Amino acid sequence: MNINVKQLKKSDLELNHSYILIVKGRASLSGNALKFWQKSGFDFAAIKQSENFNGKNGELIDIIAPQNIKANRIIIFGFEPDEKQKYFSFMRLGGIIGRKISSIKTNKISIIFTDESDEEIALIGAGIKLNIYKFDKYMSKKEQDKNKKTDKEPIINFLVKNKKGAQEAVEKRQNLVSGILLARDLINEPANMLGPEEFSNIALKLTDLGVRVEVFAKEQIEKLGMGAFLAVAKGSERPAKMLVLHYNGDKENDNLIALAGKGVMFDSGGISLKPANSMQDMKADMGGAAAILGLMKVLALNKVKNNVVAIIGLCENMPDGKAYRPGDIIKTLSGQTIEVISTDAEGRLVLADILWYAQKRFKPRILIDLATLTGAIMVGLGQEFAGLFTNDKILADKLMEAGEKYNEKLWPMPLHPAYDKLIDSKFADMKNTGGRYGGACTAAQFLARFIKDVRWAHIDIAGVGFAVKQNEINNSWAPGFGVALLSEYLQNFAD
Ligand code: BES
Ligand code: MN
Ligand code: ZN
Repeated sequence: MNINVKQLKKSDLELNHSYILIVKGRASLSGNALKFWQKSGFDFAAIKQSENFNGKNGELIDIIAPQNIKANRIIIFGFEPDEKQKYFSFMRLGGIIGRKISSIKTNKISIIFTDESDEEIALIGAGIKLNIYKFDKYMSKKEQDKNKKTDKEPIINFLVKNKKGAQEAVEKRQNLVSGILLARDLINEPANMLGPEEFSNIALKLTDLGVRVEVFAKEQIEKLGMGAFLAVAKGSERPAKMLVLHYNGDKENDNLIALAGKGVMFDSGGISLKPANSMQDMKADMGGAAAILGLMKVLALNKVKNNVVAIIGLCENMPDGKAYRPGDIIKTLSGQTIEVISTDAEGRLVLADILWYAQKRFKPRILIDLATLTGAIMVGLGQEFAGLFTNDKILADKLMEAGEKYNEKLWPMPLHPAYDKLIDSKFADMKNTGGRYGGACTAAQFLARFIKDVRWAHIDIAGVGFAVKQNEINNSWAPGFGVALLSEYLQNFAD
């Protein structure tokens, strides 16, 4: 489904087209929109009166166009933007329009924008696309068709007053959507189809967009000395890979922001095997890595002025004769040793080496990691907020503000030396679990032991990364959490 942006002419409607109009509250009932319809011969005022329509959120008029109008069908949405979540409210309207488009039998739709800004138009376009996304590639044709109302892909025209400006804005937002959908695709994909190697091959495609992609094979990771990361991978037939992606969008500056992602393609728990119920969800344990890859795509497509390096640890946590065990003591890249208590607390082991590597090689100004790290964060925050752990208050505020715009909400959680005693070990420098209480906090405190003098944020997305409640802009199992938040942060908030 593509969106064509076209110049809005005075009043000419087309046969066999359905038209959509947005009416923002009472005031705009008498504005440009009304004038447009009057010119095209449509008695909008009468309709609105007979339908008792006030342009409020959720109000809808859906009528067959009267004889004197060339159009097929006319649909009018009431809408009141939410000032607090401005971006999200326009995207949500787009989602509602998208849902309507999918439910009607027409495939030529024109949306008439008389009062919206370029940016608002673009956000509505993003919402439509995000709503329409489905992950049905593994369903047979027959199953797929059941969900379809028409054979043809709908053609969606945006009729706008300022074609150039709107076109540019729409393109930017569609690029953001394409990053979000890449993340959704990767997370929805099952682990038998997507292992470290397949993921790496998808990352390599970003080369075409100007991203430099390094893929480290298992032997190279061994040579570096990443004992923790490799321990996790030992039980899997599919060897670990590490990705380093370079996006260099600001040639005048050498300021660098580093991102780190947990990419556990499947987390069985290893020898500390997880219970069987909902183990299938653990194909999403690479949600952090997926969001970061989606983000890199957005940065490259939109030519964002920033320098970003992303380091992603890809592996699979499986039980096997070769797997690592509880009680094992492993040596990290940093030199610190870890006693393994649970092989299911594997994400922090992957990140321990990835975070260290990111700092030593790149000396970034800011380091942000994204990981489906703990079940405990779901217990604490549910599926509405991701947990935000950081050593820098300004960074925290900016990330929260950036996310809020897209309804990707973060809630601040504590990092504190008080948690350190829970992860001290009898046999090694630390152990990899801190007991039942405060599981998300002890996990974060564990990561903090691998952070040296860098402004750092750890975002635990275990609760928000998959199996979330559907909403207007997401009908998918995986919403692609983090792509919008990070791209907003990097474009408008990073200092
Ligand atoms: N990948 C899981 C965390 C997770 C759980 C994500 C549920 C999404 C949904 C992580 O590797 C894990 O297993 N964490 C354990 C840690 C525990 C063994 C200390 C957990 O949270 O139970
Ligand atoms: Mn685990
Ligand atoms: Zn995990």
